Amino acid sequence: MSKSTASRPIRKAVFPVAGLGTRVLPATKSVPKEMLTVVDRPVLQHAVEEAREAGIEHFVFVTGRNKAVIEDHFDMAYELEDTLKRRGKTKELEALMADLPAAGATSFTRQQAPLGLGHAIWCARDIIGDEPFAVLLPDMITLPGKTATRCLQQCVDAHARHGGNIIAVEECAPDDAHMYGIVSVGKDYGPTFEINGMIEKPAKGTAPSNLIISGRYVLQPEIFAILEKGEKGAGGEIQLTDGMIALAKTQPFHGVRFDGKTYDTGSKVGFLAANVAFAMSRPDIWPGFRAELRKIVGKI
Ligand code: UTP
Repeated sequence: MSKSTASRPIRKAVFPVAGLGTRVLPATKSVPKEMLTVVDRPVLQHAVEEAREAGIEHFVFVTGRNKAVIEDHFDMAYELEDTLKRRGKTKELEALMADLPAAGATSFTRQQAPLGLGHAIWCARDIIGDEPFAVLLPDMITLPGKTATRCLQQCVDAHARHGGNIIAVEECAPDDAHMYGIVSVGKDYGPTFEINGMIEKPAKGTAPSNLIISGRYVLQPEIFAILEKGEKGAGGEIQLTDGMIALAKTQPFHGVRFDGKTYDTGSKVGFLAANVAFAMSRPDIWPGFRAELRKIVGKI
């Protein structure tokens, strides 16, 4: 473990939400893709809940134009709350209040143009300051596996063990590796391992592994000075993976093969699959939904 990057608590998380969501048009023409609903709450709320469970105290949203509704979602809704109170809908009101972040626990900054994920993270530099922080790509939402903890908690645990920078990874079909950021494995400790290489969208057949960078990170603040250079990579975008490759020259990176599963709600099929999987995980929803699903699936 390098001394300068030894484990410090992870208090803040960045949620980049400034992308255009072109893969799920027309749904995202006027509704941010992070506000599309999986079961009964916006995709983004699932990611915020995962961060909260992992001990995050401050939630930093990097938004863009037409995303103001995100800010409203994490604020009080006076008229609604008052109406629920007057109608005696105590359970609904209590649920809303339990979800509300504490006063001062959210920050919103804007990425003026969607120049890439690396650029979006860089936009949070002043709010994060000089401490390690988490990044959650909110369109990737996760369910726990056999362990009770979700992906970010497992990353935070790995950071407590190894220090430095942490990336959650999961397996993809080898033929699909060219579509993702890929890591290669150095010294292997079991679920965690040293990362000794990364590449964003490798040419077909050249990927060093089938372990994909899957949307949860713990990063050291030195990443900001690298991202500031604004170097463009795959797709002409300022890529976070390229920034991490540069940081890996001076700081350790470890991967976590996390116990759980990720659903990419930024694609149409992934979004539909997420709704089914998250409904299955809800004892209050699943029995009724299963009955409906049986009727439909029986007709396939
Ligand atoms: P994606 O590449 O999945 O988002 O980025 P996108 O650009 O909205 O997707 P498509 O391809 O057009 O459908 C992952 C996350 O990073 C954010 C997105 O909002 C998403 O949550 N992002 C991406 C930004 O905040 N800014 C960017 O410039 C790019």
